[in-house]
Amino acid sequence: MAASTAAASLRLSFPLLSPLAASSSTTLRFPIHRRWARPSLAVAAFKKISEVSPLSIPQEPTQPLADEDTLPAKPGVYSVYDPSGELQFIGISRNVRASVEGHRRKVPAELCASVKVAIADEETPDKTALTNAWKSWMEEHIEATGKAPPGNVAGNYTWVGAPQRPQDLRLTPGRHVQLTVPLEQLIDRLVKENKVVAFIKGSRSAPQCGFSQRVVGILEGHGVDFVTVDVLDEEHNPGLRETLKSYSNWPTFPQIFVGGELVGGCDILSSMAEKGELAALFQN
Ligand SMILES: *[C@@H]1O[C@H](CO)[C@@H](O)[C@H](O)[C@H]1NC(C)=O
Repeated sequence: MAASTAAASLRLSFPLLSPLAASSSTTLRFPIHRRWARPSLAVAAFKKISEVSPLSIPQEPTQPLADEDTLPAKPGVYSVYDPSGELQFIGISRNVRASVEGHRRKVPAELCASVKVAIADEETPDKTALTNAWKSWMEEHIEATGKAPPGNVAGNYTWVGAPQRPQDLRLTPGRHVQLTVPLEQLIDRLVKENKVVAFIKGSRSAPQCGFSQRVVGILEGHGVDFVTVDVLDEEHNPGLRETLKSYSNWPTFPQIFVGGELVGGCDILSSMAEKGELAALFQN
């Protein structure tokens, strides 16, 4: 049945480790019917969800969380439950106590009544061990209930917040400001200060031509950390098109710079992507 095939591959939001409550997230495909890689020794160092007793989360902000022994400021995995005991979210954190405190402040009380926590045996478990523990908690929950925690579904920003999208860079604050350095120098500084720069027509979220759209798609598809500059924005980037053409000695847009060097336009980037050459380009 088509529906069950689609359901077999849910898109889940995977809270990456970050110093405080995970603020960045990425998505990962989670094939329900396939087992995760053999349980490693690292996973064995964490308790299973079913082996952990829940701690209640006091709703009153003035009431302290459970003591540090019960809810330590240490790396681990945790699951959060609503007042009826339905699991809402499975998280991973370098500091479980801080993450739970963060949820208590930001997430509605009707989603956040109790928590189960598993801390690693070692003082500083490696990232893989934590990730494996998170995966095995997800698997345990999905096997028991047939569904993913609602808060872990991709695009749900209740628990981890939306990923920060870098804005489009602007060369000037606006036409009203008199430039004290030549535009050429601003471009030079911009491509040298940012590892990957795409000069495109339109903004990153709304490219104004098919080639620019393709470039943004390829870079995002490769998980590249890049900034964009809108060559059509005459208010903030006046004269950019003409100056950039002579700076790069390249007549068309979009133009992609890596490490201060022009790579080329859409065709070059596309063909490098097809040949699998992009990973190497963005590596260094
Ligand atoms: C996100 O997950 C929570 C459960 O933790 C759920 O109540 C909420 O409706 C979800 N939001 C969206 C937009 O799906």
